Amino acid sequence: MPTLYKLEAVTVDDVPVLARMSADAFKTDRQTQMKALGKERPFDMEQYTLQALPDMLTSPRCVMLKVVDTETNNIMGYCNWGFHGFAPEEMPVVEGRTTRKVTEPPKPAKADNAPKPDDAPSTDPVKRLEALTGGDMQAWMDEVMPANTPKGLPKVRCLFVIGLIVASEYQGRGVGSALIEWGTDLCDAHGVFAWVHSSEPAWKMYAKCGFEVIRSLDVNLDEYAPVPSPVEEGPGAVWGHYVFRYMKYFPKSIVR
Ligand SMILES: CC(C)(COP(=O)(O)OP(=O)(O)OC[C@H]1O[C@@H](n2cnc3c(N)ncnc32)[C@H](O)[C@@H]1OP(=O)(O)O)[C@@H](O)C(=O)NCCC(=O)NCCS
Repeated sequence: MPTLYKLEAVTVDDVPVLARMSADAFKTDRQTQMKALGKERPFDMEQYTLQALPDMLTSPRCVMLKVVDTETNNIMGYCNWGFHGFAPEEMPVVEGRTTRKVTEPPKPAKADNAPKPDDAPSTDPVKRLEALTGGDMQAWMDEVMPANTPKGLPKVRCLFVIGLIVASEYQGRGVGSALIEWGTDLCDAHGVFAWVHSSEPAWKMYAKCGFEVIRSLDVNLDEYAPVPSPVEEGPGAVWGHYVFRYMKYFPKSIVR
């Protein structure tokens, strides 16, 4: 990346800009478009980001970074890196990062839309889609970073991408890869893996950054569509398939 850009810690003041940027970046993402059509609590990327970011920003287990254009001071993109199994003293030191004190042992992140045992099947097809994708994500997390390590096995330590967004006007200029390489460099230094639940458009960028597809979830969006596709027109218009890819980066220092 040219030296006209710099990597810095995200601050609370950045949140409204980042929420708008997130909503814009996912405007054309088909499964996000569909989740916005839910009857019960339709998903709103901007509102979700406005609510979720401040808490994550101060979490002792998250490092949120932005890329800033040094000429204009515009934020070009940001990434939220989660850390699992890292002791407080093992967390990277990032200038300007504000964290609250750990008052209780860290809990593993939960997919907030994962189905609960007593949930009755919803009549809202979008809710069923959320239950499918949330449940699949939860199963992946339980497998790759279990809350309790089985006896005799070392505790899992890893990094994971909670969110990565590059403003549309700055895409294709190396901003996404710079934010990802910050984390994969740390993986190499600590000998730990990283994982991501990649959106459909992003997986090739992760692959270029050294991530491998481990598992995928292929969803036929038309099975959940509450309305015809907004993208195509005519009687044959379809939402089509959307493939989520679970990808892992293995550190260079580890021979598998
Ligand atoms: C995916 C995203 C983060 C990529 O950021 P970016 O700054 O545009 O990516 P980079 O410029 O660093 O691209 C790195 C490489 O990946 C390639 N790449 C990036 N996006 C790609 C895409 N959609 N399809 C194919 N290749 C892609 C680039 O061509 C580049 O390859 P090169 O090094 O050979 O030139 C950005 O497009 C984005 O914010 N998308 C919408 C939100 C999203 O899906 N986020 C991911 C959530 S998991």
